[in-house]
Amino acid sequence: MTEAATTPARPRVLSGVQPTGALHLGNWLGAIRNWVDLQDSHDTFFCVVDLHAITVPHDPRRLAEDTLSTAALYLACGIDPQRSTVFVQSHVSAHSELCWLLNCVTPLNWLERMIQFREKALKQGDNVSAGLLDYPVLMAADILLYDADRVPVGEDQKQHLELARDIAQQRINARFAPDGEHPILKVPEPLILKEGARVMSLTDGTSKMSKSDPNEGSRITLLDPPEVITRKIKRAKTDPVMGLEFGNPERPEADNLLGLYALLAGRSREHAAAECASMGWGSFKPLLAEATVEALRPLQTRYLELRSDPATLQQVLRAGRERAAGVATATLERVRAALGFLERG
Ligand code: TYM
Repeated sequence: MTEAATTPARPRVLSGVQPTGALHLGNWLGAIRNWVDLQDSHDTFFCVVDLHAITVPHDPRRLAEDTLSTAALYLACGIDPQRSTVFVQSHVSAHSELCWLLNCVTPLNWLERMIQFREKALKQGDNVSAGLLDYPVLMAADILLYDADRVPVGEDQKQHLELARDIAQQRINARFAPDGEHPILKVPEPLILKEGARVMSLTDGTSKMSKSDPNEGSRITLLDPPEVITRKIKRAKTDPVMGLEFGNPERPEADNLLGLYALLAGRSREHAAAECASMGWGSFKPLLAEATVEALRPLQTRYLELRSDPATLQQVLRAGRERAAGVATATLERVRAALGFLERG
């Protein structure tokens, strides 16, 4: 028997980030950083979800550039195109097609109760697009097209993952493959690591670090230069208490910044807590700033190299699109057949 016949296929992973403005520490620590290790054990697909980026008003002059820069950041963070399929969501039309098929079986009230939709819709006032409501169905299509076993994301995506599971299980498999023996779609599992899954704002330890916060001081982006990082950390919200600690509900900023320090300096939480237990904010902040600058330095250097060679990046995305389209089209055909569509002649 050949090796291929005896070696079981590696479990599949799919994830993505929206190319809306600069990626920040939350995107890195909550998502992309965890993708890197999965490359050793999984068949990994990472897309830049540009179709999601237009669900809120966007600037057409920036979309292509932000898409390229996000792809370059994936590679700069350690995604290896030899081992992973890196592609742009809109380059594989099966995403939009499966989204439509799933739209027609997804109850409207499942979408209306999505927390992120409610939050974003509130911010948009009377300018809410149908696309914003449909955002999680497109995300379900992204995942289900690749028969993903696991989806590594931050905590805020948990509800969207549950929706993708419900659509696959209850709305497609249960209805169109009722014997249960040959499910049409694989039901994915979320992969949310405890540490870094919820990085909070620098200016309010009770709200999540987010690209859409109008205050740039609330987040550190992956391409912020050292002096900007140092300034943002210097201005970060603190409290009057001496010493850093985890888990005190009265001190969300201490918990968040100490957590960031542990992750960025490569310390265990216990080690970081012991090191900073009696440290004042005035000593802690420069320490955190230095750890952040040093953690981002190699990534920033690599990013600049990648952006100076656009042909290579384009080639990565072209190869990624071809591989992704092959897998996605096969799944789309399976769903079309199960739903009873006439075969393409
Ligand atoms: P986006 O671009 O909003 O976020 C990308 C990833 O970053 C994580 N994240 C955070 N993690 C920790 N702390 C934070 N403050 C923080 N902010 C963001 C998010 O959880 C996410 O993992 N809807 C997705 C994009 C998407 C997707 C997919 C993901 C579209 N299709 C298919 C997985 C699979 C999103 O949140 O993008």
